[in-house]
Amino acid sequence: MTPAGLATAAPRRVAAEIAWRPLTAGDLAYVAALEAQIHAAPWTLGNFRDAMAAGYWATVGEREGRILVYGVLMLAPGEAQILNLSVVPDARRGGLGRALLHRFAAVAAERGAAQIFLEVRAGNAAAIGLYAAAGFVPVARRAGYYPGPGIDAPREDALVMRAALPLPAARGAPVGNA
Ligand SMILES: CC(C)(COP(=O)(O)OP(=O)(O)OC[C@H]1O[C@@H](n2cnc3c(N)ncnc32)[C@H](O)[C@@H]1OP(=O)(O)O)[C@@H](O)C(=O)NCCC(=O)NCCS
Repeated sequence: MTPAGLATAAPRRVAAEIAWRPLTAGDLAYVAALEAQIHAAPWTLGNFRDAMAAGYWATVGEREGRILVYGVLMLAPGEAQILNLSVVPDARRGGLGRALLHRFAAVAAERGAAQIFLEVRAGNAAAIGLYAAAGFVPVARRAGYYPGPGIDAPREDALVMRAALPLPAARGAPVGNA
């Protein structure tokens, strides 16, 4: 199946309509195709397969059978790291990113993590806005960490952000399975 509906219109839909379930091997080709359209330096299908083989916690959120949001969380003793958090363009600003972020934090806290980290492009205002609103604060900056969008494009710094767990409760907090 080919990802469809990646127009940039942003209908205001609520995260509560989403059905959450684990990412499965059968999703990988579709999710990798979404990933290639969403990120400047996308994970490959092999990256997702490796993440599943490593036992990372990975989920997708669907509406009417279409994956709109997905992500991968690495759990380690005492802490967790968000490795991937993505919302398809036409479903943004509907609370899905926030819902998955809080789902990640809840899973990490349940597994005993006291803190949660992530890396984000320093120019990714949407993601930084999402994380800051949830209580994440920058704790480090990694110069030139990310490749640019093209061969000649300059590399981009990463911000390392951290939050103590549990996160404060949020609007759009996740409900449901997975
Ligand atoms: C970043 C991303 C996950 C946000 O997902 P989303 O579902 O659109 O975000 P939400 O609707 O849950 O927004 C939650 C909050 O984040 C902030 N936010 C989200 N998008 C924003 C934007 N474009 N500009 C500024 N703040 C933004 C706001 O505080 C927002 O709350 P509000 O809508 O009440 O103002 C999404 O834009 C995305 O997938 N981007 C491409 C992939 C990516 O960059 N992933 C993160 C890599 S670290």
